[in-house]
Amino acid sequence: MTGTDLPAATTEPAMLGVEDRNGPSPITVDVQLDQSAWSTHLADQTEEGLRDDPPWIPPVWFYDEPGSEMFDEITRLPEYYPTEAERSILAEHAHDIASITGVETLAELGSGTSDKTALLLDAGQQSGTLNCFSPFDCSEEVLRRAAAQIAGARPGLDVHAVVGDFHEHLHAIPTDGVCVIAFLGSTIGNLDETQRKEFLANIADTLDDDDWFLLGTDLAKSESVLLPAYDDRAGVTARFNLNALSVMNTELLADFEVGEFRHRAVWDAEASRVEMQLVANSAQRVRFDALNGLELVLGAGDHIRTEISTKFTREQVESELAEAGMEVQRAWTDSGDRFLVTLSRLTRQN
Ligand code: AVJ
Repeated sequence: MTGTDLPAATTEPAMLGVEDRNGPSPITVDVQLDQSAWSTHLADQTEEGLRDDPPWIPPVWFYDEPGSEMFDEITRLPEYYPTEAERSILAEHAHDIASITGVETLAELGSGTSDKTALLLDAGQQSGTLNCFSPFDCSEEVLRRAAAQIAGARPGLDVHAVVGDFHEHLHAIPTDGVCVIAFLGSTIGNLDETQRKEFLANIADTLDDDDWFLLGTDLAKSESVLLPAYDDRAGVTARFNLNALSVMNTELLADFEVGEFRHRAVWDAEASRVEMQLVANSAQRVRFDALNGLELVLGAGDHIRTEISTKFTREQVESELAEAGMEVQRAWTDSGDRFLVTLSRLTRQN
């Protein structure tokens, strides 16, 4: 996400809800999300989380530029199997996905520069049906860079980027023609059950009868495999987690003493999820000047929950999709049965 060999992204702001065409490359950027309203929303959500017991923060604070680089590094760690497992599924089945769906537009939730996206784009272009790629992300800057990169590398592909919040703006995804909406990486696992329900209902609302939903979900497995994936030997995940405190110091004018916190990953068998936490080594009083002067008080050993990563069974995925009105048409796993990719469409074909 931080490549340097990309065509320069335009910096002129697009008007809300209005598409702008930039020069000769077939890129449109539809800005549904006003960036200052989004910052306010994130601040409000963070304040709500920090007032909870135990306190929690939304995972968005991980992903400043250094954090995004650390996440890339995580995906290459020997312990962090999901990326490679999902990549192997898509490498094997991208052509099935293209031929089953006849995909004309590939929409991806997330900026869409991964090699997994490339596998889907290659398959769609080779099958001759794909003509549009629509990455959807909350960051206009990240999206413009990604859009320029993809359009530059794939002549003949229209890129229609949507800057939005996926709880609110999925309707802006161009679903004329056959559209496949992809949500990869088991990012859905960051949502709790209530949030997933709402999200999947929004997806179902967005799909037309000829559209498809491609979902990547990490599967429940032994704690001895799960925990190291979130607490690697090299300490990259620990740095990634702690970085959220530095980001909040900058963005929320907070005064975390980063050195007084430590990373912890916990497996919650009941909820079938890994939790990432930051534990205070000593009593802490943290002020947030950008959150109405909020003060967070922690005793030694108290923690802030920074992320949940839900692990699913295939049955759970199928039933959550069914409840939202979608039906799994195909499901694939990797050779180690670690990860699941499902291809669904609306149950009721009107
Ligand atoms: C990108 C949200 C899917 O939950 O596994 C990786 C993020 N956090 N290591 C995940 C993450 C710690 C990742 N997701």
